[in-house]
Amino acid sequence: MDKPVVADTKPIVLDLQAGSYWWCSCGKSAGQPYCDGSHKGSGFAPQQFTLEKEQKAALCLCKQTGNPPYCDGSHAKL
Ligand code: FES
Repeated sequence: MDKPVVADTKPIVLDLQAGSYWWCSCGKSAGQPYCDGSHKGSGFAPQQFTLEKEQKAALCLCKQTGNPPYCDGSHAKL
C-alpha cells in the first residue's frame, strides 16, 4: 500500500452537526476532508466517525494522524 497523499499540511476545523461522516484516509478526495470514492484501487478505505452532538472538530488533512479522523499534530513533522 502506498503512503497517503498529503491533502494539506494543516487540519480543517469545522462545526459539525451530529451524525455520521466518512473521513478520507487516502488524501485523494477532491472533497476533503470527506471520501469521494477516489481511494478505489489504492488499498485505502474511508473511516467512518459518528458525532452524538454538534461540535467543533479539527480533522486531519495531512493523513499522517495517529488518531484519525482528528488532527494529532503530525503535520508539524512533515
Ligand atoms: S477518497 Fe480518500 S478514502 Fe475515499
